[in-house]
Amino acid sequence: TRTPVNVTVTGAAGQIGYALLFRIASGQLLGADVPVRLRLLEIPQGLKAAEGTAMELDDCAFPLLRGIDITDDPNIAFDGANVALLVGARPRTKGMERGDLLEANGGIFKPQGKAINDHAADDIKVLVVGNPANTNALIAQAAAPDVPAERFTAMTRLDHNRALSQLAAKTGVPVSEIKRLTIWGNHSATQYPDVFHAEIAGKNAAEVIDDQSWLADTFIPTVAKRGAAIIEARGASSAASAANAAIDHIHTWVNGTAEGDWTSMGIPSDGSYGVAEGLISSFPVTCKDGKYEIVQGLDINEFSRTRIDASVKELEEEREAVRGLGLI
Ligand code: NAI
Repeated sequence: TRTPVNVTVTGAAGQIGYALLFRIASGQLLGADVPVRLRLLEIPQGLKAAEGTAMELDDCAFPLLRGIDITDDPNIAFDGANVALLVGARPRTKGMERGDLLEANGGIFKPQGKAINDHAADDIKVLVVGNPANTNALIAQAAAPDVPAERFTAMTRLDHNRALSQLAAKTGVPVSEIKRLTIWGNHSATQYPDVFHAEIAGKNAAEVIDDQSWLADTFIPTVAKRGAAIIEARGASSAASAANAAIDHIHTWVNGTAEGDWTSMGIPSDGSYGVAEGLISSFPVTCKDGKYEIVQGLDINEFSRTRIDASVKELEEEREAVRGLGLI
């Protein structure tokens, strides 16, 4: 029988954690033939709730679930981790400045990056979900010099999926007929969902839509502000859809993108498309054999260039801020 894959989830007692753990344990993260061992990391106040969730996981009698450890010590949580989902983060509270937010999260992601560096398995893959996801991923990555930088990624798959769904609704085609969509930049309101290389039922998406003002004034802001709209409607932030996107992100990274398609991932830039090297920015990527590659050679028109640059500029400012705080 296969050795179980160690999957560490931080913020396990939170709302995304609750939507995520059962799907991991049921085999949806890695595949229906891959046994998993869960490691749940929480802060001390979250441990009891995490234990309750673990009781429910037990009660599902998932055939693939080979054990659950619960801890508030990152060194234990990441010991031998093959996949790490960094979900727990410090939310922005009223009156909090961006610098305060980055500093509070630095206090979480820097030690977690170090624990990953010191204890994770050689094949560790990290996905940062907790916001500000791209810069939190950068902080963790900088604290893990012995781990290849490309193993640290940030989640823009929820934005990608939101964009797919908006395009499907606009054009009346199933989501499965939409390919090669890209989210560029930061997982924030400056993100840029790009349809110029996308295909809808085999035709160029921008041509099918043929409505530049809908793209600029409806589509892009709807995708970028969807998180706020969910909070407004639900009275709580996106949880099941965020968990679903985290599953998709890791599943695609491990199992690959479909032929002729790509996905969006926040990854350390190699300088492609004018994105400053080292920033963790969202790109179009293909995945194969557990590795990803940036899709090269796309023509970036003026409309896209302006928007990509604006989002990347925001990432550069966040990097400067965490540098100033000594977090990287
Ligand atoms: P939540 O507040 O329900 O849960 C967060 C959990 O993290 C809490 O149980 C808390 O105790 C725990 N936690 C805090 N600090 C921790 C630490 N140092 N170590 C371990 N656990 C810690 O929040 P929710 O709704 O589950 O969201 C989690 C994060 O995901 C938030 O930062 C949110 O903004 C972000 N998010 C990101 C999305 C994306 O697309 N990248 C989409 C939706 C949410």
